[in-house]
Amino acid sequence: MRLLNINSVAFLLLSFVEYIYATPIVGGKVIYNPGNAAPKYPYMISIQELYKPINSRGVEEFRHFCGGAMLNHWWFVTAAHCFLRKKLARISAVIGHENLSSANQNNSRYAIERVKFIYYQPTNIQNDIALARLKKSYEPELNLIKHAFGILPLPDMKNLSGVSCQIVGYGATQYAGELQNNLIEGEVKIITKQECSDILGRILAPPHDETTLCALGDNQDTCQGDSGGPLICKVNDVPYICGIVSHGLTCGVTGVPSIYTAIVPYLEWITWIINDKVENS
Ligand SMILES: *[C@@H]1O[C@H](CO)[C@@H](O)[C@H](O)[C@H]1NC(C)=O
Ligand SMILES: *[C@@H]1O[C@H](CO)[C@@H](O)[C@H](O)[C@H]1NC(C)=O
Ligand SMILES: *[C@@H]1O[C@H](CO)[C@@H](O)[C@H](O)[C@H]1NC(C)=O
Repeated sequence: MRLLNINSVAFLLLSFVEYIYATPIVGGKVIYNPGNAAPKYPYMISIQELYKPINSRGVEEFRHFCGGAMLNHWWFVTAAHCFLRKKLARISAVIGHENLSSANQNNSRYAIERVKFIYYQPTNIQNDIALARLKKSYEPELNLIKHAFGILPLPDMKNLSGVSCQIVGYGATQYAGELQNNLIEGEVKIITKQECSDILGRILAPPHDETTLCALGDNQDTCQGDSGGPLICKVNDVPYICGIVSHGLTCGVTGVPSIYTAIVPYLEWITWIINDKVENS
């Protein structure tokens, strides 16, 4: 493992300050399920922004910018920074597609009604988590699809150090690369906060608390466009959504970890919101 010293990391940070929010999957493999096989990650969302209201063929054009994960028929979880400087009315979610090229054909675009944050701090990227509610409910064929919704971790799943997890996204396959149309998966391993700050340095490493996870891939990493997507960790063979892609300094630089928002500390808030307790109380 190559350790960057703090000066070179600080340099990376300054040069790519524009991209600090754009964490990026490199080195992963394209998910390809020929035929009518159920999608491998049916809860995976591509959050897209309308960028051309009407193109030359008379259809609207959308641009993928972040990932997310459906948690029930109405709500998905993503990163808070994904909604910075975005107009909600221009944003929609495409759910469970392995190939975004076909996303427009099947009327599979869901408008977003509202977004909830919990003390998100853009300056230091704390609490980089958001929940978004669709305008119409998403009704997957539950009898055909296993794990149609992402599974929340259990409250006691606080120490995930050493656990291998999947990262999934439509993001760039190299730093500043083109976004993919195909869903890509990769594998990373969660490291301790001490290991994380040994590599990133005290200033750039996330605080030694439970709100973030630090994960390192063997040449596999998240990249811009993957933000908001799930970090899926199998515990006792159950694929839990343990984290949300939050930020990194660059993509796939050997030995440099990326930072994920941990789900466990936010469980009560998430459960409260996605069960629509707030609206009903
Ligand atoms: C994705 O869909 C497009 C358009 O339908 C197709 O050309 C492309 O081959 C597909 N990619 C994969 C990996 O299936
Ligand atoms: C779109 O719908 C058709 C017909 O139901 C189906 O065969 C096709 O696989 C769907 N495409 C996607 C990307 O879901
Ligand atoms: C977390 O788990 C790892 C691997 O099982 C173990 O080595 C470490 O001591 C644990 N840390 C804490 C704080 O329990």
